[in-house]
Amino acid sequence: SPARVSIRMTLTIQRDVSLETLNTFGIAVRSRCFARIESIEDLRALRERPEWNEGPRLILGGGSNLLFTQDFDGLVAHVALTGREYLGDEGDHRLVAAAAGENWDAFVRHTVREGWPGLENLALIPGSVGAAPVQNIGAYGVELFERFAWLEAFDLASGRVNRMSADACGFGYRDSVFKRELRERVVITRVVFRLPKRWEPRTEYGDVREMLDERGIDRPSALDVACVVTAIRRAKLPDPAVIGNAGSFFKNPIVTGEVFDAIRADEPGAVAHRQADGRVKLGAAWLIDRCGWRGRSLLGSSGRAAVHDRQALVLVNRGGATGAEVLALASAIQQSVAERFGVALEPEPVVV
Ligand code: EPU
Repeated sequence: SPARVSIRMTLTIQRDVSLETLNTFGIAVRSRCFARIESIEDLRALRERPEWNEGPRLILGGGSNLLFTQDFDGLVAHVALTGREYLGDEGDHRLVAAAAGENWDAFVRHTVREGWPGLENLALIPGSVGAAPVQNIGAYGVELFERFAWLEAFDLASGRVNRMSADACGFGYRDSVFKRELRERVVITRVVFRLPKRWEPRTEYGDVREMLDERGIDRPSALDVACVVTAIRRAKLPDPAVIGNAGSFFKNPIVTGEVFDAIRADEPGAVAHRQADGRVKLGAAWLIDRCGWRGRSLLGSSGRAAVHDRQALVLVNRGGATGAEVLALASAIQQSVAERFGVALEPEPVVV
């Protein structure tokens, strides 16, 4: 009988690949090398490749929280691991897992449809499941860490998959170890969520409450909340499929009570939320809006990079903008806000 031939699928590394459709800002840059990661085996193979070991590397998820400012002279590894799994119950909670390459919103809708509430306030956030913990995504009163059980991460140094707890992830406001110490050192492969069986809707956020009232819903289901959140996002935030953007471009700055009091003395209408520690989180959208930036672009520029007209915290690519143009606009905004309010704005996306 003929010898059995075992075919080992090798990882393909492509050359000179456009990244335009792989970042939600729609910046037309190219990568010298590019690999699509579909399995842990692909990650193991990647570690052996000279292209990975010899130059700059970038792990790319949904591309919804980064700004490319130039062609990438190295290897981009695009995480495309798929799969969703119900892992079972743990006391009063359900454990639900999704692979890193799954689309975030599709996963949220799947859990709501299955009758596993808990993620509905995070509906319609662009990006992938694996990118969600990187910046501890949050919206309408809920942050990812509240629903997080653990994640699995491939350690590029050892070649092993490790389980990481919330503590190990170091979650903060739009922040985690994956943006800092572990950047480009691990690949998140799977995230497991702990969803409450005794669920209560989270409707403390003003916009959500108002729209539920308008719709005459006083005891909302998870599906109701998902629908309302989706409607609010559609009304205020540009759809990246239509106009390039990366969501909020800046974090809401947290300042001392004294700084806030000084601002409020001149601006009684300043948008702000007192934190548990007495500091104050300022509405960056309001600060930017107050400096007159909403709907505007940099004077004398091509106008291709602009501030969204319905949400001043969102910078948009009106078509053909370069990352440098977006960055120049961002710097001008930071300068205005610093001059007028003495507050430093920190960008939310990773600048590459
Ligand atoms: N506002 C203005 N001008 C504007 C837009 C908003 O004055 O152009 C005021 C609004 O009136 C409101 C306040 O600013 O009182 C806050 O606006 P919004 O509710 O839109 O929330 P945000 O603080 O600007 C944050 C998150 C969003 C998240 C929303 C809803 C950050 C950096 N951004 O925005 O997250 O969807 O709350 O929870 O925390 C993202 O991170 O990419 C993102 C979109």
